[in-house]
Amino acid sequence: MKTSGPVTVPALAAMKAAGEPITMLTAYDASFARRLDTAGVDCVLVGDSLGNVIQGRDSTLPVTVEDMVYHTAAVRRGLERALLIADLPFMSYHDRASAMNAAAAVMRAGAQMVKLEGGANLSETVENLVANGVPVCAHLGLTPQHVHRLGGYRVQARDDGPARRLASDARALEKAGATMLVLECVPAPLAREVAKALVIPVVGIGAGVEVDGQVLVLYDMLGISSGRAPKFVHDFMAEAGSIEAALAAYVAAVRERRFPTTDHSWQ
Ligand code: KIV
Repeated sequence: MKTSGPVTVPALAAMKAAGEPITMLTAYDASFARRLDTAGVDCVLVGDSLGNVIQGRDSTLPVTVEDMVYHTAAVRRGLERALLIADLPFMSYHDRASAMNAAAAVMRAGAQMVKLEGGANLSETVENLVANGVPVCAHLGLTPQHVHRLGGYRVQARDDGPARRLASDARALEKAGATMLVLECVPAPLAREVAKALVIPVVGIGAGVEVDGQVLVLYDMLGISSGRAPKFVHDFMAEAGSIEAALAAYVAAVRERRFPTTDHSWQ
């Protein structure tokens, strides 16, 4: 990004308007957060993926608001420039009061935006949060908190019906006041269509290159997550040789739209 000052919500909208890709990575502690900040990552996400990569669990479902507060506060201490987003964990936003309390807790810990998984059914929740000063990033496509309903971690919205539903959910969430949208594991042509239709930035993970930015789980792009890496992951550490060089390579590849390639995407 051209500006060197702190990244703000209006700055993200301006990046989309200017066609400048937004760089995002997850972090869960102050030391990594500092390195991401120095590398020029625009948004740092305290993802509930911490359930997998920090806690060693097989899903994000056991993660609590208290876990999110602890890691958000740690990441906050490592950041000067990047915008800090925190996930609201499973079942912490199923009703108005819970959503307000969970968002208040992570915002008090230093988050500047919250992320939640789901479609048009969350419109009222998004409206309430936004009306109370909480910027919201929505998350559609593969929503890991819904893994049991979805039947596993796999590409979503390949058929026309689910694709139309996703596009309509995206419009509803924007209308409700969402500031940003993460699209995970959806065919690249659908992600491109949604990014074109929305005014707000659409950040992809396994959604092709024709969106407004990219996000990866930090431990995946450093090649230290357990198990087989998903198709959309590139191990930037393998070629870089140091954490700093891997982060710099990721930021440059996203900004120059060299990552992801068609090998990391579904058509
Ligand atoms: O929890 C997380 O890390 C996420 C990203 C995969 C987008 O939601």
